[in-house]
Amino acid sequence: KMVLFIFVALLILSTASCELSCGYHSCNQGEADKLNVHIVPHTHDDVGWLKTVDQYYYGANSSIAWAGVQYILDTVVQQLSVDPTRRFIYVEVAFFSRWWREQNTEVQQEVKRLVQEGRLEFILGGWSMNDEAATHYNAIIDQMTLGLRFLNDTFGPCARPRVAWQIDPFGHSREQASLFAQMGFDGLFFGRLDYQDKETREMKLKMEEIWRGSQSLHHPEADLFTGLNENGYNPPAGFCFDAYCKDDPIMDDPTLEDNNVKQKVDDFISAAHKQAKHFRTNHIMMTMGSDFQYSNAKAWFKNLDKLMKYVNSAVRYKNSDTEWSVKSDDFFPYADAPHQFWTGYFTSRPGLKGYVRESNKYLQVCNQLETVAHLRSGMKSNLRTSKSNVLREYLRAAMGVAQHHDAVSGTSKQHVANDYAKRLYIDVISSVITEGSSNLTFCDYMNITLCDFTQNSNRFTAVVYNPLARAVSKYIRIPVDCTPSYIFVVIELLVPVSEATESVRRNRGNANCELVFLAKLPALGYNSFSVIPPISCIFVDLIEKYKSSATNKRLFTPKGKVVNPSDDITISNEVFRDETILTTKEMNFCHVNFNRNSGLMDSIFGYFLSSIYFERYIIFKSPTGAYIFRPNSSTPFHCSNDGKVKLSVLTGSNPLVQEVYQKFSDWAYQVVRLYKGIKHIEVEWTVGPIPVKDQWGKEVISRYETNIDSNGYFYTDANGREVLERKKNYRPTWKLNQTEPVAGNYYPVNSRIYIRDAHVQLTVLTDRSQGGSSLSSGALELMVHRRLLGEDSKGVAEPLNETGQFGDGLITRGKHWLLLDTVTSSAKQHRLLGEEAFMSPLVMFGGATPPALQSFIVNPLPPNIHLLTLATTNSGELLVRLEH
Ligand SMILES: *[C@@H]1O[C@H](CO)[C@@H](O)[C@H](O)[C@H]1NC(C)=O
Ligand SMILES: *[C@@H]1O[C@H](CO)[C@@H](O)[C@H](O)[C@H]1NC(C)=O
Ligand SMILES: *[C@@H]1O[C@H](CO)[C@@H](O)[C@H](O)[C@H]1NC(C)=O
Ligand SMILES: *[C@@H]1O[C@H](CO)[C@@H](O)[C@H](O)[C@H]1NC(C)=O
Ligand SMILES: *[C@@H]1O[C@H](CO)[C@@H](O)[C@H](O)[C@H]1NC(C)=O
Ligand SMILES: *[C@@H]1O[C@H](CO)[C@@H](O)[C@H](O)[C@H]1NC(C)=O
Ligand SMILES: *[C@@H]1O[C@H](CO)[C@@H](O)[C@H](O)[C@H]1NC(C)=O
Ligand SMILES: [Zn+2]
Repeated sequence: KMVLFIFVALLILSTASCELSCGYHSCNQGEADKLNVHIVPHTHDDVGWLKTVDQYYYGANSSIAWAGVQYILDTVVQQLSVDPTRRFIYVEVAFFSRWWREQNTEVQQEVKRLVQEGRLEFILGGWSMNDEAATHYNAIIDQMTLGLRFLNDTFGPCARPRVAWQIDPFGHSREQASLFAQMGFDGLFFGRLDYQDKETREMKLKMEEIWRGSQSLHHPEADLFTGLNENGYNPPAGFCFDAYCKDDPIMDDPTLEDNNVKQKVDDFISAAHKQAKHFRTNHIMMTMGSDFQYSNAKAWFKNLDKLMKYVNSAVRYKNSDTEWSVKSDDFFPYADAPHQFWTGYFTSRPGLKGYVRESNKYLQVCNQLETVAHLRSGMKSNLRTSKSNVLREYLRAAMGVAQHHDAVSGTSKQHVANDYAKRLYIDVISSVITEGSSNLTFCDYMNITLCDFTQNSNRFTAVVYNPLARAVSKYIRIPVDCTPSYIFVVIELLVPVSEATESVRRNRGNANCELVFLAKLPALGYNSFSVIPPISCIFVDLIEKYKSSATNKRLFTPKGKVVNPSDDITISNEVFRDETILTTKEMNFCHVNFNRNSGLMDSIFGYFLSSIYFERYIIFKSPTGAYIFRPNSSTPFHCSNDGKVKLSVLTGSNPLVQEVYQKFSDWAYQVVRLYKGIKHIEVEWTVGPIPVKDQWGKEVISRYETNIDSNGYFYTDANGREVLERKKNYRPTWKLNQTEPVAGNYYPVNSRIYIRDAHVQLTVLTDRSQGGSSLSSGALELMVHRRLLGEDSKGVAEPLNETGQFGDGLITRGKHWLLLDTVTSSAKQHRLLGEEAFMSPLVMFGGATPPALQSFIVNPLPPNIHLLTLATTNSGELLVRLEH
């Protein structure tokens, strides 16, 4: 694993010629007693950022940026063909595969030859270069699979990338390193790391290290050689030879006044020596290229050829030292200056982040159901040509694009973000799922109690699909119009629509209630539930029973109404625990107290004095933006003007759910829910339009305060998988000079964050990626939404000022699930609940005839085994991924 694997483009100081074969054989091994400078011609092609993917490919909307990927590939291939010593690496398969399809057989044959001879080398090979903070590992694996499979199918094993290349993402996750190691990559290179960290590493010769990606896998299973690029991913100063660069070309006519060969050679050797001082071996790499460069590849190659011809004086160098240090934390958060912490993008575009997470579930369900259909056909269905294949490939590609480091990260321009969302449009999914079965429809806006199908019908069936390979019981909420009389047999609950929901929904929809019921779902299968007038809402298998016993029926009226409390409120349920570790009796109950005067939650479980605030930071007008988070003070402002929260509560003898509504202001609401028999508390936040009339951008946080003695430590997950320990104002591998007390302590939270002391742990699970931290002992906070008027000069050149459907600021709604448990049993709880949140049931609607309950798996899996992937490849093989 410790081989020095340079995908060499050209070797400067050695005269050995490159062997013509792919893989490491095509690398010049260099000379032991010399400094070997490996020149790596490359282009960084964002799969959407300032322009959409299509615009980048064709070079459209050139007023924003000239970039056109088709010309890059056209000219690079041409320039490689004319000179067998030239090399190029290419990364993004989303672009490459599109270009490939447009080429004639002749060009394709030529490209195959270049790949076979190691002249064109793919590295990373994902559909895109995925973000590392806001992505879920399920989606990372899928997007890598998509790209790597294309390369293998097109070029065979010779094209298999050996090295991962994450040069641009804004901070690096340990889970990403673990995944790459497990995918069989030999190494990883990237460019962005904290400036203080980089200085320390340059001094200590730690620019190359072994990164231990997992605490739970036996090493070296998740160990990965990791190299940090000296110049990000740019060439050394003065050596940018792109047609759009301003550096001088090499002017080598000896009779010329402007001849600059000596100057260039001296500068280059000096840059090489400077860089070599930071590295342990006598091999260094120079990244020769940048964003969308090589659209006229000739300019680059011609000058590199000259550069290498002229730089030819050998340099004695210390012998290679292959003892590597080991790193086991990660590279978050990323700062490139004292007040430039790239921690805002952990939350930027919360709507898109939620949508990408949700779409991942749809993709998994598509994969599962397509596989079921394939198995039913005796594995004879022709997947390559079927309609579902086309749609599924489209969805896989759309998800691959969505993982890009300017997509789910929320750092693209607005018109690009709209394009990302469009690509995930749910129609695609629905036609895959319903192929060959009855007509089912989705309701995209169940999150705001909006569904044309159910609100206008008193006869329908809800088909609820469970993508987990174990049976679950989950509460389902369906928008209905409860004005007409319904009659229930198995009595369920109708909850009136809340003020917050009405404020989001405005004039859309007429559902005034949500029907709440507990759905018992089989492993990897579905159950259906019918609403039939005047019966309504009965389990399928009970219809007959109902018909035979008319006495069972009773007329429905909404159970409960929303009132303002005159006293403090407590909601509670009795949850039996399998382990009684805590001696306090109250821990056997889930109960939450609200103080009527402050409107805040002031104790959870009767055990902790706790409160839940909803606060906002006001951020500096500049420089702050899609990437950067920089609050103007460490103390957040309250979302309510008078510091008070308006409280109301659902009353009545309802059996299933208790709800307390908190209104912080016209643009910040929360509902706290406790369902019957459920151990966790559900908190639904609704935020927006964030007011900006005062000309201040704002970032809204949800802060949970407890008396847990967490003492500066907190824990956040990496990409939804393993968890890392964090400590306030501290970095494990260098002495931190903390310059931003809030932003410098923010970390990406993909699925969970927790604090704990010796006994108790509070875990907050999220439904999407958010930034989070613990800034004081016992407190946890998550940034749920942000709206900014300034710009952080990181390239987007547009304020993150998202608007919603009605032209004013975007409203976003999401959920937190709070679990309070003993330290020893909490993992068991939050792992299962996290899985259920990630792969929550999919609700579809159809006519009144319900399909019979069905499970597609004979033996459900035990709870500690997760079915990560069940899919069918184009060639009809089954792909099953299980994880412990
Ligand atoms: C081109 O970019 C501008 C933003 O500068 C955007 O408003 C416009 O919609 C883009 N054009 C297309 C066709 O996407
Ligand atoms: C890669 O391609 C080869 C054929 O070139 C094939 O035999 C092999 O199964 C492919 N591997 C995967 C994982 O698809
Ligand atoms: C199914 O959808 C088709 C096309 O939208 C429609 O014509 C048909 O009536 C639907 N069938 C049922 C049973 O709803
Ligand atoms: C922070 O923003 C608020 C909101 O307008 C303002 O009142 C306050 O003076 C600002 N604080 C600093 C330190 O700039
Ligand atoms: C910490 O960083 C700040 C901002 O760059 C600088 O002014 C200060 O001198 C640094 N402190 C130390 C101890 O290095
Ligand atoms: C932000 O968006 C609003 C529309 O919701 C618009 O009126 C305002 O001018 C925008 N501000 C900036 C700085 O872009
Ligand atoms: C509700 O979900 C839809 C579809 O995922 C999304 O576009 C929308 O932004 C969500 N609404 C809110 C208020 O979060
Ligand atoms: Zn990029």
